[in-house]
Amino acid sequence: MIVSTFDYARLFGPGLPPPAARWNGRVKFDFTGGNNDPERVPLEGLIAATESVLRREGRRLAIYGVDNGPQGYRPLRDFLAGKLAADAGISCTADDILLTSGSNHGLDLVNATFLARGDTVITEEDCYQSALNRFNRIGIDVVGIPLDAYGMRMDGLANALKDLKRRGVAPKYIYTIPTVQNPTATVLPPERREEMLRLAHAHGVLIFEDDCYADLTWSGRRPPAIYAMSRRGGVVHVGSFSKSIAPALRVGYVVAPWEVMSRMLALKTDAGSGALEQMVLAEYCIRNFAKHVPDLRHGLRAKLDTLIEALREHFGDMVEFDVPQGGIFLWVKLPDAVDTMKLYESALAKGVAINPGQQWSVNKAHSRSRLRLCFASVSHEEIHEGIAALAEVCRRDFGVSKDSAP
Ligand SMILES: Cc1ncc(COP(=O)(O)O)c(C=O)c1O
Repeated sequence: MIVSTFDYARLFGPGLPPPAARWNGRVKFDFTGGNNDPERVPLEGLIAATESVLRREGRRLAIYGVDNGPQGYRPLRDFLAGKLAADAGISCTADDILLTSGSNHGLDLVNATFLARGDTVITEEDCYQSALNRFNRIGIDVVGIPLDAYGMRMDGLANALKDLKRRGVAPKYIYTIPTVQNPTATVLPPERREEMLRLAHAHGVLIFEDDCYADLTWSGRRPPAIYAMSRRGGVVHVGSFSKSIAPALRVGYVVAPWEVMSRMLALKTDAGSGALEQMVLAEYCIRNFAKHVPDLRHGLRAKLDTLIEALREHFGDMVEFDVPQGGIFLWVKLPDAVDTMKLYESALAKGVAINPGQQWSVNKAHSRSRLRLCFASVSHEEIHEGIAALAEVCRRDFGVSKDSAP
């Protein structure tokens, strides 16, 4: 290895985020991240799809954007237009869809299109960490709205909008994950979606709808997307194949009218997102998506049941949670004595990784003793063993065990 004596630091640009930590591999019991179930990656189907699409159209890879322009591989956009109409009630065409490198790329493009330092965004109080990090990085004031068992509370939203107006602040958008929210896994009912649209319209605020878990409701049914319910526009919608197929494929999408699309395209300077994934997904999904997703949901639901069983066995009544309506996460409340930022450190030393609540919330007091557990990528055995190990750390460091007095 070359030992560098060059001083890079004096040349770094201003305002860089803190350096990333080096990746040291996954721990034994990893309940973090938005990973999927390795057993449910539709491997044979993806192998067959890769072979058939490459044999038929592989030479198109010689052309940027596989000769389908900057919005991405057309057959995948056509598939999405059909799927979004059938599942989410969204009426759009391939021209309204931009394929991105994961929906995180979509978040970046939408943020870059609308936000500037000092702007205000409204979100669910407990919220996707990467979205919060993005807002912090740009210098956005984030206003968190409390959730209940049905997602964002509309009285909270109405009060926040009124309060901001009184202070002369015009928020840019309401960033919401209405269908299987991250981390609470709540599903916002249609009446609240209507009310959100009414309030957003009355205050001239855009709604930024992140629907990346929407395929994973246990019932297989979901309310119409907010994008679909709006009769006046004013909604931008993002989705992903990460949660329904596999996150390492890096394919997400943004649905937006041309007025917004044309601005995002001007900002998307990567000469197109990876086309091979888009081609394979189109080939696979056109024939198999409708069969694959119920199978995935079934497997995830079984893992959630195992997690709940393990929590009851090792924590008794010391844990509180609402049973998710779908998805890959359980949002758990431990007794107030537990600071989950500290628990995170000591559990990690025992080979158990959790997501501490404070990283997933704008309300640090409310989330202090909460944590998020991803149950998708761990096996049933790992769930039992990992939760037993976590319970042991809680007992040792915080005196919290299933036998302790409430
Ligand atoms: C709410 C939400 N939005 C967006 C993403 C980004 O997903 P991807 O970039 O893999 O599509 C995630 C990933 O966990 C998420 O939870």
